Amino acid sequence: MSLDALTIRKDFPIFDRTVRDGKRLVYLDSGATSQKPLSVIDAESNFYRFHNAAVHRGAHQLAEEATDAFENAREIVAKFIGAKSDEIVFTKSATESLNLIAYAIGNANPGNRFHLTPSDGIVVTEMEHHANLIPWQQLSQRTGAKLSWFEVTPEGRLDLSNMASVITENTKVVALTHQSNVLGTINPLDAIVKRAHEVGAVVVLDACQSVPHTSLNVKDLGVDFLAFSGHKTVGPTGVGIFWGKSELLLELPPFLTGGSMIENVTMTSATWAPAPKKFEAGVPNMAQAVGLGAALKYLSEIGMGSISQHEKMLTSSLLTQLAQISEVKVIGPKDMVDRGATVSFTVGEIHPHDLGQYLDSLGIAVRTGHHCAWPLTRKLGVPATTRASMYLYNTQEDIDLLVTGVKGAMKYFGSK
Ligand code: ALA
Repeated sequence: MSLDALTIRKDFPIFDRTVRDGKRLVYLDSGATSQKPLSVIDAESNFYRFHNAAVHRGAHQLAEEATDAFENAREIVAKFIGAKSDEIVFTKSATESLNLIAYAIGNANPGNRFHLTPSDGIVVTEMEHHANLIPWQQLSQRTGAKLSWFEVTPEGRLDLSNMASVITENTKVVALTHQSNVLGTINPLDAIVKRAHEVGAVVVLDACQSVPHTSLNVKDLGVDFLAFSGHKTVGPTGVGIFWGKSELLLELPPFLTGGSMIENVTMTSATWAPAPKKFEAGVPNMAQAVGLGAALKYLSEIGMGSISQHEKMLTSSLLTQLAQISEVKVIGPKDMVDRGATVSFTVGEIHPHDLGQYLDSLGIAVRTGHHCAWPLTRKLGVPATTRASMYLYNTQEDIDLLVTGVKGAMKYFGSK
């Protein structure tokens, strides 16, 4: 079913305001963070207004209501990605989720399947966001496990030609992004997951840029762990999701320790509660979790299939229009095969920051820079790009205004 972005936009209060002296907001930076519908803002606010109490603790009515709302949000998240609810861990961000898994693996003692030694390997890719690169670099430095990676081709795809020499018999962890936050490339998981599992490695998926945009089921993906953030899925900031298969969460040591994550404590030792509590030390981000539940409910009601279709239409239009401007170079896939609604590009000699500022003066919000994926932009020989990232509230007019803005910048900066 097609989606009516103009009607959807009415659900998002931020589109009622203007920017830069009365200009309509053309928001093309959803890869950085999405805007929020009123139902999400209300869900978070209503939690504080009517139900606020520490979950899983008090013996009073508010605590009961707060716990119900929090656990209901967990069920919504689980359903959204095809998981069991006790496999869903609330964190403060996807960055925390990825650090959680890396630090938890680092806490594994000899005898635990996650224990790493210098003869083990960790595999990442050259297109990782820093959040799914640096935690693994650090783990490699702490344990001595060797860090290796899949390279990226000039077209912005993973080079899997040497799969067997990158994922070896010694590989214990393969961590990669589902969809590049810079290039929009959607990675071919099947072959990677198959090879990783053949050698007994676990696969950790950074799904920050895919979960908000496509219907996805962790069982079909076949990965072992997955992370995504609330704020990119029309949900609040301050909440991320860490998902893991039950049998793996059972063996994975905790990352943060403290209240609520324990089974028994003495003065010298402690044992852990089962997942997800084992990974949720302290009073959790309850209002944000409830807000995320409202966000996923909102997206589900619209339909993830419709959202993907709409984004495909916008992306295809943008790629077609940019291809007609000779000075524009799209960094990443130039066609619609296995790519999402994120388009990075350069325009002649115009510095992306200048282009970003020029577009901003027209009310068009894009991101410029290395997009927290410095090794990738360095590899592709572009210190920075301009990135447009689309979502359900964008319209064809937004795309046309961006293209007109790019042409205007070329005139303004004397690029053509
Ligand atoms: N990770 C976010 C982005 O790519 C912030 O913009």
